[in-house]
Amino acid sequence: MRKLIIIGNWKMNKNADETIDFLKKINKKINNFQIDIGISVPFVNLFIAKQYAKNIVVIAQNCHFEDYGSFTGEISAEMLKNINITHVLLGHSECRKNFNETDKIINKKINTVLLKKMIPIICCGENWKEYQNNQTIPFIKKQIERLLKNINIKYVKNIIIAYEPIWAIGTNKTLNIKNIQNICNAIRTKISELYNSEIANCIKIQYGGNVQKENIKELLSQLDIDGVLVGRSSLDVDVFLQLIN
Ligand code: PGA
Repeated sequence: MRKLIIIGNWKMNKNADETIDFLKKINKKINNFQIDIGISVPFVNLFIAKQYAKNIVVIAQNCHFEDYGSFTGEISAEMLKNINITHVLLGHSECRKNFNETDKIINKKINTVLLKKMIPIICCGENWKEYQNNQTIPFIKKQIERLLKNINIKYVKNIIIAYEPIWAIGTNKTLNIKNIQNICNAIRTKISELYNSEIANCIKIQYGGNVQKENIKELLSQLDIDGVLVGRSSLDVDVFLQLIN
């Protein structure tokens, strides 16, 4: 049985004071939950979030694939591990768009994070054109192949996949939940082809893109959707609590 995981992706939101405030409020409300809950916070607030978070996984929003070196502005997985960060979001479409991240670069990052025994939450997803041309499943399958290229079978069961159609992120588009289930199932099948069915059945697959309190229940009741990655609805503590409740 795969445990559900709900992650709030704060993107470039909340300063240190706001982070502490959010965590103080949420800590009181989430004892003994049957699901995993995480927040993905800007680098500068990881350390403080780790100090305040109780029963919440604190997640980094990216990392570099090298441990040290001349990479101004970057943060390494090594540095994250050193402050006890266990999970790293990789390949979010905003990083792909804003920093020209490619599947090849993300694949290197996945490898580095796994070798450090940390958990990468790997984003994948098609754009509007691919979606409209019914290319989603072939596109995602190829993308998964590139992202997991040469990733050792020994570590792969630790990954989390976040399926996030680019066209749904930050919008209020109505979701076709049966379609999302089919795509998540296709991702699992692809992992089974690349590795084996035991590994495919272990791996958690989340959905992200316009998750709201109105659609979360149906999303989480799908066979192959093991959690959600939430942007806007994770910023207000009461709205986020409504989602996880
Ligand atoms: P959204 O963002 O929930 O605001 O659509 C999701 C994401 O970017 O992870």
